[in-house]
Amino acid sequence: MMDVGRHPNVELMSFSEVEAVSGFVGNFHVTVRKKARYVDPKECNSCGECAKICPVSKPDEYQEGFSSRKAIYLPFAQAVPSAYILNMDDCLGNNPIACGKCLDVCEKKCIDYDDQDELVNIEVGVVIVATGMDVYDPTEYDEYGYTRHENVITSMEFERLICAGGPTEGHFMRPTDQQLPKSIGFIQCVGSRSQDGRGNPYCSNICCMNTVKDTLLLCDHYPGVEVKVFYMDIRAFGKGFEDLYMRSKEEGIKYIRGIPGDVIEDPQTKNLKLTVENTTTGKLENHELEMLVLSQGVIPRQDGDKIKQLMTLSTTSDGFIMESHPKLKPVDAPTKGVYIAGCVESPKDIKDSVTQAGAAAARASILLNAGETKIEAITSGINGDLCNYCGVCSKVCPYNAIMAPDKKARKLPVVISAACAGCGACAAECNQDAIYMNHFRDEQILAQVDAILDVEPHKQLVTFACNWCSYAGGDMAGTSRLQYPTTSRLIRTMCSGRVDEKFVMRAFRLGAPMVLVSGCHFADCHYISAVVWTQKRMDKMWNKLDKLGIRADRLQLEWISAAEGQKFAKVMREMEDKLATVTMEEIEHTMKVLTEEEAKEAAKKAKKAESKTAEVSS
Ligand code: FES
Repeated sequence: MMDVGRHPNVELMSFSEVEAVSGFVGNFHVTVRKKARYVDPKECNSCGECAKICPVSKPDEYQEGFSSRKAIYLPFAQAVPSAYILNMDDCLGNNPIACGKCLDVCEKKCIDYDDQDELVNIEVGVVIVATGMDVYDPTEYDEYGYTRHENVITSMEFERLICAGGPTEGHFMRPTDQQLPKSIGFIQCVGSRSQDGRGNPYCSNICCMNTVKDTLLLCDHYPGVEVKVFYMDIRAFGKGFEDLYMRSKEEGIKYIRGIPGDVIEDPQTKNLKLTVENTTTGKLENHELEMLVLSQGVIPRQDGDKIKQLMTLSTTSDGFIMESHPKLKPVDAPTKGVYIAGCVESPKDIKDSVTQAGAAAARASILLNAGETKIEAITSGINGDLCNYCGVCSKVCPYNAIMAPDKKARKLPVVISAACAGCGACAAECNQDAIYMNHFRDEQILAQVDAILDVEPHKQLVTFACNWCSYAGGDMAGTSRLQYPTTSRLIRTMCSGRVDEKFVMRAFRLGAPMVLVSGCHFADCHYISAVVWTQKRMDKMWNKLDKLGIRADRLQLEWISAAEGQKFAKVMREMEDKLATVTMEEIEHTMKVLTEEEAKEAAKKAKKAESKTAEVSS
């Protein structure tokens, strides 16, 4: 951090928060709130006299509450800049009767009680989001007694207790008697890989090796201490990790395969009794320990939604920020010019975070050095003659890439091509057909529908598949040589959000017995929230079919990922089964109803166009 602070090309804005981001690749406008420190960081030389005299005492957040800090304090030893800050919520104020002692004692006169937050606007070409993660709060695992037993601590608290810069200066001790515990246990996967509704279902990646490291620290510093680790599996898959794990075992650490059911404290000794089923021996065991460490998992940042909205990012179902492509663009966010690094993307250790940060910086510098960027070929455009200024397109766009129209000023919507990612949700939602998608124009997609249903339409399984997941899932099924009906006919769209109602209705009107719309799993849409519009449109279409007396289940929706070749094949087989239930009479009835419906709509449109022309000429 010090290197970063000293680097001539880096402006470090600590104790600041991003308030707003607008613009697009190469032209981001960022508003940063520099929070009031009440101490001038340029003048403060960290002498600490102010803190010595400050009468306020509060739990020190950095030391996990094991020690206290003053209202005016240095956040942590390596803070950059190395300057004190004053927490106004804790401060008694500068009224001499109340306090104001720090002001009197500061020789540099760098304390200013009237300091204000400052809003700074900056222009940047690219943004790297590296906002990190939070740790899981284990209080909901009541059986471990974290809130009841003082000698049950978390792995973060363990870090502070064993750290030379910690509250005990690295002298490890148990909270109840400040003595070195003779036995310590670690419980793994607290809040990770959980299937019981508590915690998270994913693996937090770092906890196993963190515990192995902690056990080795204990062995080095306190050779006589007995250490036991209770685990489900030890995941030591990184370079040198297995060696470290073996070394820990050789040092005498006992690894017990089983997660304790409960932890009971002896009220006299404050020792902890654990009951665990050892799944290696199949026996129920009791262990008595003087201290217990809960190896807590990693969770997305609590303010992750704010970051997501600011940068128009999307998240996976776990809540971590989703990359543009897991293999080909692992550090690119779906929004062009935005990159991601570290635990904001997924739980990872220091080495992986550094690797990813390097990759993100390199990706960003490619763009910056080029000074220009190629825009996507697949972007939307406006047909001004058809637009009725409704503004639906700008509301639908997940990237804020369409500037809203102004009916009064006769200003048409404007597509910012550099920001458009080409999902096509706007084109599908515009009921005036005033938006077109380059390379995925209505005419092109409708021509595919027509071609598929040209011969024996009653046998065809018309499927709209999103480029990134379902279409790739179909590919996977093919390369895995999985059997699925030969009548499956796929029409690729970039996103399921591009599937317009008129594509589906055209297919039914031409005699399709079944139509499938498929896309990425809901949280995995590659165009942030475009898939939300897929779902809304499907609901609308099901209602419409229902009203017209057409069986709504002839239109199916499935979420299929690129890795789910099996699922793709299964869905197509199920579609074929459903196709067998659709009679020729039903198909003919549908064709007739939809042809009449189309004629009615065409007449309505013509009437509207007539009155519009009359309006303009008058
Ligand atoms: Fe697949 Fe949006 S990209 S559904």
